[in-house]
Amino acid sequence: MRRTTRAMVMILALLATAVATAMRAQGPAPQPTPPEQTVEVTAERFTFQPSEITVPVGTTLKVVLKSDDTTHGFRIKGEGVNVQIPKRGRGTITATFTPAKAGKYTFECSRICGAGHGFMRGTIVVVEPGSETK
Ligand code: CUA
Repeated sequence: MRRTTRAMVMILALLATAVATAMRAQGPAPQPTPPEQTVEVTAERFTFQPSEITVPVGTTLKVVLKSDDTTHGFRIKGEGVNVQIPKRGRGTITATFTPAKAGKYTFECSRICGAGHGFMRGTIVVVEPGSETK
């Protein structure tokens, strides 16, 4: 009787190993695509329009930037995002930012564009998902 029990334990162990191997072979479940939000922003001396953008945490924000006059820049402070906005009529540039934490993120012009360059700034308000309407 003891022999039979030991044999059954071994069979069960083998089965468990086989199941675990089969599950591992499937690999991790595919990651869901993060939600995206696209906002068009126009830069001109010396503002961004709109200058406040609200986005939920974890959403990939795509800021499509164009200029109404000269070349400007778009930098999100401390986030490693910095692009040059081509001057009027030269098309758009898209800056992509996926905030991992709620809070306020400052963006600013990163290219000297005139006397008011230092005033060209705005805010990205990152909110917890579902709290956008509060
Ligand atoms: Cu716009 Cu500096």
